[in-house]
Amino acid sequence: MRHLIQTSDLSIDEIEQILRKATLFLNTLDSSAKRPTQTLAHTNIITIFFENSTRTLSSFECAVKNLGGSITRLDVSRSSTSKGETISDTAANLNAMSPHAIIIRHQSSGAPVHLTKSVSCPIINGGDGAHAHPTQALLDLLTLKQCLGQNLAGKRVGIIGDIKTSRVANSNIELLCRYGVDLTLIAPPHFLPTHTSLPCTHDVREVIDSLDAIISLRTQTERHSKQNYGSLRDYAHDFCLTRQLVGDRDIIIMHPGPVHHNIDIEDELLKDPRCKVLDQVRNGVAVRMAVLEFFILGSEYHGQAS
Ligand code: NCD
Repeated sequence: MRHLIQTSDLSIDEIEQILRKATLFLNTLDSSAKRPTQTLAHTNIITIFFENSTRTLSSFECAVKNLGGSITRLDVSRSSTSKGETISDTAANLNAMSPHAIIIRHQSSGAPVHLTKSVSCPIINGGDGAHAHPTQALLDLLTLKQCLGQNLAGKRVGIIGDIKTSRVANSNIELLCRYGVDLTLIAPPHFLPTHTSLPCTHDVREVIDSLDAIISLRTQTERHSKQNYGSLRDYAHDFCLTRQLVGDRDIIIMHPGPVHHNIDIEDELLKDPRCKVLDQVRNGVAVRMAVLEFFILGSEYHGQAS
């Protein structure tokens, strides 16, 4: 039984297979005439999200429905975990209902891998603490390839913002390094990881000329034990991506959402065609369709069908 806990659970060949399939699915999202084959008909997928989510939860739900599957959303506030049941017990009970996959988001790093011991279906990690967010990294990879070309080796990508507590940064770093991307981390000292071999800077102006793409990240205030910056306004002064900063450079702007307007990215720049935030959301549905097929139906089926 395979699970998707982190990007390193997949080989490059498997990732390429998933992205090829996602690209085919994207065409079907554009037109009602070309509905995808209902490969998940007669499957039931459970989502259990212990943290808020807009894009990840709804795009997984769209992905399941697009492939003809049915989805059961466990309402955590009404579930027995709020009465003290452990998440392992919750998972074992859900597993007894014979789901074909369980998609989980949890505030604690390690919760999804812990659950793999209590279930007999694939666990898909929808984000755990500051640890990993594999499907976000896969959809970011697809977006980068659409914009910069299939071969990302040597492409220069900056990650700017609260990198230290970001699961999106962790997963992107693992995945993009394997693709040979030349990464630079851009953040104030307290937002940079303590141990990293990647080049770091506190000044985006120093590196922006050399970048092909820049991924902005939200300040993860919910994961800070204390406020470690003067104010978000001070932070924005140095790290907000603006039209003025970007100028007419040939660079693409990405963000996993939710965007802190005028703190992470200026409103004006969000409307710029170089800003790919909504393309990322769209790619998210297609990538999650391909991921679900891969883990539920098996890589052999998935490979043949692509
Ligand atoms: C991210 C998350 O929840 O990790 N959002 C997302 O899934 N699209 C990023 C964030 O919360 O900042």
